[in-house]
Amino acid sequence: MVEISKQTVADDVAVELLMDGAFGPARYSRSVWLLRSGPPVADLCLVLRVSDAMLASLRFWEVQLEQQTVLLLGPLAVQPDLRGRGYGLQIVAEGLARAAAIGKWPLVLVSGEPDYYPKFGFVPAAPYQLAWPGFVEPERLQFLELHQGALAALRPPLRVRAIDA
Ligand SMILES: CC(C)(COP(=O)(O)OP(=O)(O)OC[C@H]1O[C@@H](n2cnc3c(N)ncnc32)[C@H](O)[C@@H]1OP(=O)(O)O)[C@@H](O)C(=O)NCCC(=O)NCCS
Repeated sequence: MVEISKQTVADDVAVELLMDGAFGPARYSRSVWLLRSGPPVADLCLVLRVSDAMLASLRFWEVQLEQQTVLLLGPLAVQPDLRGRGYGLQIVAEGLARAAAIGKWPLVLVSGEPDYYPKFGFVPAAPYQLAWPGFVEPERLQFLELHQGALAALRPPLRVRAIDA
């Protein structure tokens, strides 16, 4: 049975190994990590388990979009030998549902596969002219609206920065 729950301290090493395998140790030099200067949002650090085995991990950070605090989705990874079975879909859907239920954030931003995130309702962020801290392929940047009207209210160009920057 699939169970999605908050990550515990006991999961930390397994999550780090999963991310090492998915993105390699050089992942921390990617520009997205400049935005993850503080801790992740504790309520949204999720793991997916089947029969107690941790198969997927998803976390979110808060980032600053001009004057607003929004969510940055990721990193997300599923155990390599168990991809393509819907686990990614389930943990992302659960993370977004929990974020929406908390209600604090008008938008979720992701730097991710342009083909993967539209299934959750993400739209390209290119029209909003995001100033990102470092190199990013612009087509990877996508927004999901959690508060109705949040996208329409944006006034580009928009600077994205770490919460304490
Ligand atoms: C990306 C990842 C999290 C997807 O998890 P998963 O459990 O394999 O995906 P799912 O089985 O839930 O796939 C759901 C759908 O997304 C599609 N999909 C899976 N990976 C995809 C990708 N990288 N790009 C585009 N579509 C993808 C699947 O084909 C499936 O499509 P369908 O519903 O039309 O059949 C997983 O492949 C992974 O860990 N990759 C390495 C790390 C990574 O790239 N993380 C995030 C990238 S932004």
